[in-house]
Amino acid sequence: MASNLVVANWKMNLPSEGIETFMGRMNERSYAAGLAVAPPFPFIGAVASAAGNVRVGAQNCHEGVSGAFTGEVSAEMAATAGASMIIVGHSERRKIYGEDDALVAKKVAAVLRAGLDLILCIGESEAEREAGATGAVVERQLRSAFEGVDGAEATIIVAYEPVWAIGTGKSATPDLVAETHAQIGGILDATVGIRPILYGGSVTPDNAASLAAVDGVDGFLVGGASLFSDRFGAIASVF
Ligand code: PGA
Repeated sequence: MASNLVVANWKMNLPSEGIETFMGRMNERSYAAGLAVAPPFPFIGAVASAAGNVRVGAQNCHEGVSGAFTGEVSAEMAATAGASMIIVGHSERRKIYGEDDALVAKKVAAVLRAGLDLILCIGESEAEREAGATGAVVERQLRSAFEGVDGAEATIIVAYEPVWAIGTGKSATPDLVAETHAQIGGILDATVGIRPILYGGSVTPDNAASLAAVDGVDGFLVGGASLFSDRFGAIASVF
């Protein structure tokens, strides 16, 4: 893996320019950072066919391998479709679909069981930040997700995404990102070992350079701005 990684989380959206055009444009130039695109499940194959140098991810998975779980997709199935990495614990999954730390931990195990790279999302809500609980929240999320994980065996990437910064246009300040990434680095050091830490939450071409310059920021997880190849490319090029 390149030392920096910039991941597009398309959520339940597709780029209006079309998948092939988007992927073609991302391959027109080379980036120092590694790139990945995580489309909705049914489009993993289409993204993989046009991927070129871009890695392909999934946005979620079920914790099991197979079974009577209507509407669910296992990590193994996502891998068969062409994904090599899976995002787990995104705050939209935690908040809208009620995924708690225990379920996130099972999904972490599922991704690693399937031999895929894990992107674990963590982050505090606005109320938690205001209460001064950010450190405690990210520590709880990390320790619970990695309980029983053999750090030596697994490819693990952490994405710090303050919930209040996601999709709001209110990205965290570089100072705040530096402080929280340092806290996360300390917890990783004491658990699964040092890992790349991405920042996510309203990353745009305008703020990407100042966030990338922050000590401890190894890449980005990008939502809204990742739906346009020119904006995603501009963000990726800051590394
Ligand atoms: P955003 O989303 O860039 O639209 O804030 C980031 C994310 O949810 O991963």
